[in-house]
Amino acid sequence: MSGSSARYLVQPAGRVGGELTVPGDKSISHRALMLGGIAAGRTEVHGFLPSEDCHATLAALRAMGVTVEQHSATQLTVHGAGVHGLAAPGQVLDMGNSGTAMRLFMGLLAGQAFDTVLVGDRSLMQRPMERVAKPLRAMGAAIETAQGRPPVRIAGGRPLAAIDYALPMPSAQVKSAILLAGLAAEGVTRVTEPAPTRDHTERMLAGFGVRLARDGASVSIAGGQRLTATRVDVPADISSAAFFLVAGALAAHDGLVLRNVGVNPTRTGIIDILRLMGADIRIENLRESGGEPSADLIVRAGPLRGVRIPEALVPLAIDEFPALFIAAAAAGGATELSGAGELRVKETDRLAVMAEGLATLGVRHELRADGIRIEGGPVSGGTIDSHGDHRIAMAFAIASLRATGPLEILDVANVATSFPGFVPLARSAGLAIS
Ligand code: S3P
Repeated sequence: MSGSSARYLVQPAGRVGGELTVPGDKSISHRALMLGGIAAGRTEVHGFLPSEDCHATLAALRAMGVTVEQHSATQLTVHGAGVHGLAAPGQVLDMGNSGTAMRLFMGLLAGQAFDTVLVGDRSLMQRPMERVAKPLRAMGAAIETAQGRPPVRIAGGRPLAAIDYALPMPSAQVKSAILLAGLAAEGVTRVTEPAPTRDHTERMLAGFGVRLARDGASVSIAGGQRLTATRVDVPADISSAAFFLVAGALAAHDGLVLRNVGVNPTRTGIIDILRLMGADIRIENLRESGGEPSADLIVRAGPLRGVRIPEALVPLAIDEFPALFIAAAAAGGATELSGAGELRVKETDRLAVMAEGLATLGVRHELRADGIRIEGGPVSGGTIDSHGDHRIAMAFAIASLRATGPLEILDVANVATSFPGFVPLARSAGLAIS
């Protein structure tokens, strides 16, 4: 089976600029729906990301009896069913391309009274689910995977007991799944991370009135707590802004402004790494709403240099490496990444698929088991296969700011999973994309 026939044609361009607002944060949008769905009362969500991934979560909640009123693409009201209020869906739940939806729902559904089956698209059906199933089983859940992959079958009606679990890999999805299962478990569940990962679940649970205790690398939650509906203001997604941060660092000669971007410190590795490379990024109008900080980001073009990326920043920029590899290709000198084996189990094997595209554009690099070394230098045009990976498609569109010839990027339909309206927004910034 081949991927979708949708493709981008991108002509070389030398300049970007203006003021942009990228769509809402994907991680926060999923969580607003899920927590709103099990809260008591009406949760108002503003700035929701109307993407395919978030719509998969929305459809699953509706299938389990949650009423969601959609006032506009980005504003909705979730009528919470309460912690014990979800109903058997009567159908397989399709998570589409979304690992976040599947893994967080595993945690949420492990303690329900009814059975569920979770499936996804071709990419998601290949992704590892035992990392979540294993700790949930240790809590008493009955979960089956198919040799570690979806379909995920959850048998309901099993009482859950708290665990004290040390995550073997830095993963906010696994952490979140265990915390959500912990809500339904008897006792105090504790999760310890090997390195900090995005903490939106913890922040949002607190916003819904749930008590959590943080102690260094550990977070604990007592079972049996109720959630109280609240208002969630979703900031713009820094993972979507990342493409324009790189574009701006390469070609915003008069500056490029990105409005109201989420700058939770567990997500800002992209800013730290680009600054290490010499990028001029300013953070202005820092504010906070609903426990999540946001700010305007102003980026200006200047020379970039290759760096060795500190391993501690890897989980804090985990979704931004496709964009960062384009910055590395345009930088002076070599950029080295290690400790990033998790990139091999994203929507695609992002190390391998990015390496393939860089090779097509004549960018010298050395692929490693858990990273890559990229030599900055000339970037040619060519035909890139994104293998249906939204972030890889968008990253190579940004490469047009350095490319000496046109780029054709194949299999781009999945950009709609995270960034509806990417093409018109990129055009408004100055990219010659169609
Ligand atoms: C996410 C966590 C990360 C990230 C994904 C979104 C989340 O995945 O890559 O895009 O919303 O919790 P891992 O937990 O697998 O690192």
